[in-house]
Parts: sequence; C-alpha cells; structure tokens
Amino acid sequence: MNQKIFIKTFGCQMNEYDSNRIYDIVKKIGYEKTDNYEDANCYLLNTCHIRDKAKEKVYHEIGRVKKIFRAKKKPLVIVAGCVAQAENQEMLKREPYIDLVIGPQAYHKINDTILNYVEKQKFEETEFDAVSKFEYLSKIKNNSSKVSSFLTIQEGCDKFCHFCVVPYTRGPEYSRPFKQIIDEAKSLIEQGAKEIILLGQNVNAYNDNGLRLSNLILEIEKINEVKRIRYTTSHPKDMTDDLIEVYKHSKKLMPLVHLPVQSGSNKVLELMNRKHTIQEYLNTYEKLKEINPVVEFSSDFIIAYPGEEEQDFNETFELIKKIKFINSYSFIFSPRPGTVAENLELIDKEISLDRLEKIQQKLFEHQIQKNKSLENNTIEVLVENQTEDKTKLFGRSEYMTSVIFSGNEESIGQIVKVKINKSNQNTLFGEAVTNLNQKVA
Ligand code: SAM
Ligand code: SF4
Ligand code: F3S
Repeated sequence: MNQKIFIKTFGCQMNEYDSNRIYDIVKKIGYEKTDNYEDANCYLLNTCHIRDKAKEKVYHEIGRVKKIFRAKKKPLVIVAGCVAQAENQEMLKREPYIDLVIGPQAYHKINDTILNYVEKQKFEETEFDAVSKFEYLSKIKNNSSKVSSFLTIQEGCDKFCHFCVVPYTRGPEYSRPFKQIIDEAKSLIEQGAKEIILLGQNVNAYNDNGLRLSNLILEIEKINEVKRIRYTTSHPKDMTDDLIEVYKHSKKLMPLVHLPVQSGSNKVLELMNRKHTIQEYLNTYEKLKEINPVVEFSSDFIIAYPGEEEQDFNETFELIKKIKFINSYSFIFSPRPGTVAENLELIDKEISLDRLEKIQQKLFEHQIQKNKSLENNTIEVLVENQTEDKTKLFGRSEYMTSVIFSGNEESIGQIVKVKINKSNQNTLFGEAVTNLNQKVA
C-alpha cells in the first residue's frame, strides 16, 4: 500500500506527541506522512476538548476538508484525541463525513482499525488501555526526534477538578515504566535530540513503584548528550520536596517552573476542587526561590469561574503581582459536558471579559518587562532550527522564550551565547556571540 496521511493536531503537547507516534505506527501499514493535505488519502484530526471552542474547531475543520475534497476522491477521515473520546458515537452521527473515531488511549490499534474498515461500517474505538498502548509504542521506534523532543511519561488524571474534562477524556492516572522512558529518551538522543520535554497531564504525579519524576530527571541527566530537560504540566499538590531539591543541583533541568494555579482565591480553589491552598502554593514558590533564586514561574488561569466575586478576582490579581509569572495562559471558564461545573451559573459576559483583560494586561506587562531586562545582555540559547525564510536562527532561552538571531547554521543543536538587542512580548532578537567552544561568524 502506498498511501499518504496528513495529521492536523489541536490542543496540548501531549497531542503533538501522540500525532508523531501515530505517524510511526501507520508507517507499518504503508502510510507515508505528507505535509500537503490535498495529497492525503487519509486525513486525521487529533483533537482537543478542553474548552468549547476547541470542539467547534473540529467540526469547522471537517467542513473545510469536505470542501477541499469536493471534486476529488474522499479521503479516509479519522477523528482522534480528546473530542473523539468524549463524543465517540455522537461524532459519527453528527458528521457522516467522519469514518473512524479513535480515543487517545486506543490509537495503538489504529492499524487494525484502518485495515478492517469497510466503507459504510463506521467504527469507534475509545477503550482506555494505557498499559497496552505504551507497551505497543515501546516496540516501535519514536522517529520524531528533533533538537527539542517531547516524551510522554504519564497520562490521565485522578484529580477531577470540577471544570476539567481530562479525567474523562484521558482516563485514570497512569505512569509509564521507568525503563521504557529511559530507553525512549536514549533513542531520541541517538537520533539527535538535545532537549527532552517530559510530558503528562499531571507530569509530577509520575510514580512507577516509588520512582518519581525527580528520579527520571536525574537519570536522563546522566545521558551525556542531553543538554536540557523540561517537564509539563504539573499540579501544585504534587510539587514534592524531592522534585524541588533537583533544582538545587541540576545543571540540565531548566529554571522555568510551569505550575498552574488557576485562581488566587482559596474560596475559588475550593469551588474548583483544586486540593491545595494559595498558602501551599506560595510555600512551594518560596522553597524553590530559596533553593535556586534564578527559578521563574509560569501558570494557567481560569477567569470568571462560577462563584468568583470581585474580591476573589482581586486576590488573583495580587498573586500575579507578587509572583510576576513570566509567561502564562489565561482563559475565561468554559463549561464542559459531564463535569461538575457544567451547569453552574455563569458570570456576566462583560464582567468576565473585563477581568480577563485586566489579568492579561498585568501578565503581558511582566512578560514585556522580563524580556526588556534582557536587552544588551548575553544569554544561552539552544538552537533548534533556521527561521522559515532561512535568514536567521531560531532557539529558546533557558526560560523557554523564543529567540531569533543571526548566527551560524552549524550551531543547530548546540547551546550558543546570544547577545540580545531587541525584544517584544514573546520574542527576543539578537546575534550569536560564541558557541560554547568556538567563535562563530
Ligand atoms: N493538569 C494541569 C493542572 O492541574 O493545572 C492542567 C492541564 S489542562 C490540560 C490545561 C489548562 O486548561 C488548565 O490549567 C486550565 O487552566 C485550562 N482549562 C481546563 N479546563 C478548562 C475550562 N473548562 N475552561 C477554561 N480553561 C480550562
Ligand atoms: Fe484537569 Fe489538571 Fe485538574 Fe486533572 S489536575 S482535572 S488535568 S486541571
Ligand atoms: Fe486538550 Fe486533551 Fe490535551 S483536552 S489540552 S488535548 S489532554
């Protein structure tokens, strides 16, 4: 079979990892990856269900595919990911153009599903089976090694925050076996990766018979060629002392902690079922700052959660002023089907938008200030690739900020020193000063 598959990915980094692994799997039955969707015999959407707009995007996208292929042979249309899990049969009914629906814990079965597919016999495969999925994946090489590579170590969630669909779409918490992860890290590194980003919906809840995220980081750090390690996304409750301690000695764990707090009000945290208080969050913050003062924080915020009063909102605002998060995501609460918060009374739209704007202004102000403070300084950048127009290089600072700079193409994959000349909210601009060992042009 010589078929072409195009995958469009929505949502978080875990979906990106999954899309890459799907490419690795379908290759075994003769599918080749194409970046040009018009060539595709199979069009796969890897979807996200986190906010309402995310789901609508999927149906919108299918509408677009229908138009593109109107005058051509219809491709096999597969919906995977979190919307697939949540909606399963419903998707096949709502949109007959969809042929197959495959959940995030069942995509290791995609080859059988495709091969068994007989037109008009639509099929849905949404069993939770993380153990077999990762066992299967461990036998197939992860071919998606890039300078900065994702590696999923944990899936699912048992925390059941009242606003969130993840426990329903990704199933219960599951930690991959320690050795399986180290083997995959080594394979990615052999193929040229220099940075490993460990992924999980609750990555710091990782626990394989007592081996925790801290153990994994320390083990991966031993691989010589690894230059940087990151992890995302963590829950404040799982920020244990062993993990905090790693920030004391590690030369490879990057000093940006993405620790979603959602709200600065204890009352709202309780309404959300977040299982921690602001005092506990601040304790973690202070411990980390004490252990390593260069550590910075980023976070996620849900604004206008049902029950959030002006006072609660002000507490979120104060927390932002105190911690000066350097990069954050903030969204208005979006009610999700099947969650406890689904039918709660929403806060007035204008008030919600006004609060979001105020929060974002403050967050962006800190981001701009932080970037501005780096102008005329020299920072270390891991070079990932060339910019699209091939005139500059692209890399990331230790704090994950994008850096665009002039330098030598040969430094891709290396850490170089870059003098920053200019900045905006999201990007630093500059020029390479030296590679760690050699002068560059
Ligand atoms: N496990 C992480 C944690 O506990 O913070 C979060 C993972 S979730 C995939 C990513 C982010 O989506 C959350 O931090 C939250 O801010 C946002 N989110 C989740 N459900 C939401 C909802 N119903 N409305 C708005 N934002 C939501
Ligand atoms: Fe969702 Fe994170 Fe809460 Fe789990 S801990 S329910 S993934 S927000
Ligand atoms: Fe979205 Fe599922 Fe990730 S809901 S954010 S793709 S875990």
